[in-house]
Amino acid sequence: MEEKREESEEQKNKDQAQDHEQVVTPWQVAAKDSGKIDYDKLIDQFGCQRLDPSLIDRVHRLTSRPPHVFLRRGVFFAHRDFNDILDAYERGEKFYLYTGRGPSSESLHLGHLIPFMFTKYLQDAFKVPLVIQLTDDEKCMWKNLSVEECQRLARENAKDIIACGFDITRTFIFSDFDYVGGLWVYLVLLGKITLEKLAFHPYSQLIQYDSCVVVQAVPSFPSSFPHLFSGKENLRCLIPCAIDQDPYFRMTRDVAPRIGYNKPALIESSFFPALQGETGKMSASDPNSAIYVTDSAKDIKNKINRYAFSGGQDSTEKHRQYGANLEVDIPVKYLDFFLDDDKELEHIKKEYGAGHMLTGEVKQRLIQVLTELVERHRKARAAVTDEMVDAFMAVRPLPNMFN
Ligand code: TYM
Ligand code: TRP
Repeated sequence: MEEKREESEEQKNKDQAQDHEQVVTPWQVAAKDSGKIDYDKLIDQFGCQRLDPSLIDRVHRLTSRPPHVFLRRGVFFAHRDFNDILDAYERGEKFYLYTGRGPSSESLHLGHLIPFMFTKYLQDAFKVPLVIQLTDDEKCMWKNLSVEECQRLARENAKDIIACGFDITRTFIFSDFDYVGGLWVYLVLLGKITLEKLAFHPYSQLIQYDSCVVVQAVPSFPSSFPHLFSGKENLRCLIPCAIDQDPYFRMTRDVAPRIGYNKPALIESSFFPALQGETGKMSASDPNSAIYVTDSAKDIKNKINRYAFSGGQDSTEKHRQYGANLEVDIPVKYLDFFLDDDKELEHIKKEYGAGHMLTGEVKQRLIQVLTELVERHRKARAAVTDEMVDAFMAVRPLPNMFN
């Protein structure tokens, strides 16, 4: 039954894609005609704003530290009211950060790390509190997973998130099943059974929206966290995420003023693409499209050598003559995200684009960069104990969260 529902949602999205339109929702990302995602068009469609260089300069000035490489390189490229957050910050008003993860798999892939790495930077740079939602309820509702399994995955994912280096004195991680309230587990289970019975009934749509979308919306309001923000009901909220999450928060922003709350602000990234090319996002559903934080050095090497789509020419002679097409080249795109050194990146693009460097050499450098990143993550995660997870997830005040 559940399979069928997912299939039909997917089918609808595929049909739209075949209608030559790109599809970007929290559940599906597909470019038009198997080309690239058109991010400019997305900004128009969604009605968000482009993150222009003047805003990045402001971040630099206000935080007195160099803007994160994801800002410099345009990985985070869109926003909603981020300028208002900076205005308020300039006047001495703080804000809080909210982000999340749907714990559907044992481990994260590199795409999932992007909002968390960036959120860690924002937390350090602005010295603000952060709430992280793990939507175990949503995964229990939609995947064929038990309550216990979703709760276990949420805790496993929390370890990967903590490994990104969040400051425990300013961070509250919660799972929906734990934090929403004692009845929530039963409501979700009842909703799931009702949905199965009602699969083809128009009410099923209603339950769908009630139970998942609204739960992701409410952490945008400070009153959802009385142990943190009691008496600070006007505190602004900033949500870092990839742009696939925008539909949730468009809805949230529509309703916020009607119930007397501030609209949450957003800062949104493009997608870390699949190994096969920039037609979609790196997705957990195809293991050969993604590099996981649990992949071994050997896995990384094999995946990149075998699957990373190359913009190089088919033969060395042609390559030397014409150079690589950097527009479609995945190794270069990945280096854009994860090679910190601007000069080296420029050098690689110039030499590779001119045909002096071969795909194999660029892949070699990428394998090094990603192996180091994953190894660093692996070490950090191994140091995260169950007690630390409990500590991050304890419902507690954070006395120095703005210092
Ligand atoms: P989830 O678990 O699908 O993804 C977690 C976060 O990672 C982002 N993301 C990516 N970013 C860059 N490149 C990719 N290939 C890529 N794939 C995923 C997602 O945008 C997200 O920020 N419903 C959410 C959980 C959630 C949430 C939130 C996310 C609850 N509250 C508030 C952001 C903000 C989900 O299932 O995310
Ligand atoms: N397939 C989605 C998932 O597994 C769930 C989903 C599909 C959904 N349509 C929805 C959730 C509408 C909420 C609202 O994550």
